[in-house]
Amino acid sequence: MLEIKNLTVKVGDKIILDDLSLKINEEEITVLMGHNGTGKSTLCRVLMHDPDYEIVSGSIMYNGKDLTKLNTTEIAREKVFMLNQSPIAIEGITNAEMLRTALSEVSNEPVNIFKFNQKMEEICKSLDLPLSFIHREINVGMSGGERKKNELLHMWMLEPKVILLDEIDSGLDVDALKIVAKSINEYYEKYKPIILIITHHNKLLELIKPNTVHIISKGKIIASGDKTMAERVENEGFKAFNISGLGNNE
Ligand SMILES: Nc1ncnc2c1ncn2[C@@H]1O[C@H](COP(=O)(O)OP(=O)(O)OP(=O)(O)O)[C@@H](O)[C@H]1O
Ligand SMILES: [Mg+2]
Repeated sequence: MLEIKNLTVKVGDKIILDDLSLKINEEEITVLMGHNGTGKSTLCRVLMHDPDYEIVSGSIMYNGKDLTKLNTTEIAREKVFMLNQSPIAIEGITNAEMLRTALSEVSNEPVNIFKFNQKMEEICKSLDLPLSFIHREINVGMSGGERKKNELLHMWMLEPKVILLDEIDSGLDVDALKIVAKSINEYYEKYKPIILIITHHNKLLELIKPNTVHIISKGKIIASGDKTMAERVENEGFKAFNISGLGNNE
């Protein structure tokens, strides 16, 4: 189980997450929705312990450890993986180089190159990515949608147990959205991870069925329910939950 308890986070003197609590059970797919600027991406970054964010109070328990006390590398070793809303390009390092290094770091064993290459090829094909992506520099020169798929390639190779998908659906064309959703569903069926999906649209949730939907406003969870809540957001907007569109910038 991943349990976030009374988490308050600030940047400078601005509180971004305000006494936020959220529990995600094993094998659960949870969705977080909310206006722009309400702290969704911040929550993901804090889960990975991005040092730009000051944790004022609270805990994030996973596998008997408080992630707020671990650094990002240690959190990655716990098999927590974040797919960034805007994946950054890293020049000079290819996908294959990064993934081989990451895998041998995690397992403390050299990577079997034959199996590694075979798996990379299979995943590229399933994501409809050219095999040249294996040796492309990370996200360099890739389109927005290709970057999202490239991050999924990383996910499949690293086999995380907790997956944070920050707007994986933004920038994807209709066919790419279906391919990406299919890939996530297949991953879920195979590994049964905890998944946190951040999205602004119900479209993705017609393809990936969540167990729970939470609404965040001004750094707090203000409503929780089943997937029909996402349908309400799509149809009625956040006013259905009595919240204004001011995000955290009031
Ligand atoms: N490193 C930072 N420095 C300064 N302000 C920040 C930083 N990170 C986040 N914020 C602010 O915190 C608030 C929440 O940002 P966050 O990126 O978490 O929003 P979000 O809910 O993911 O929004 P969106 O739906 O637009 O992606 C915003 O007002 C943002 O400007
Ligand atoms: Mg965001």
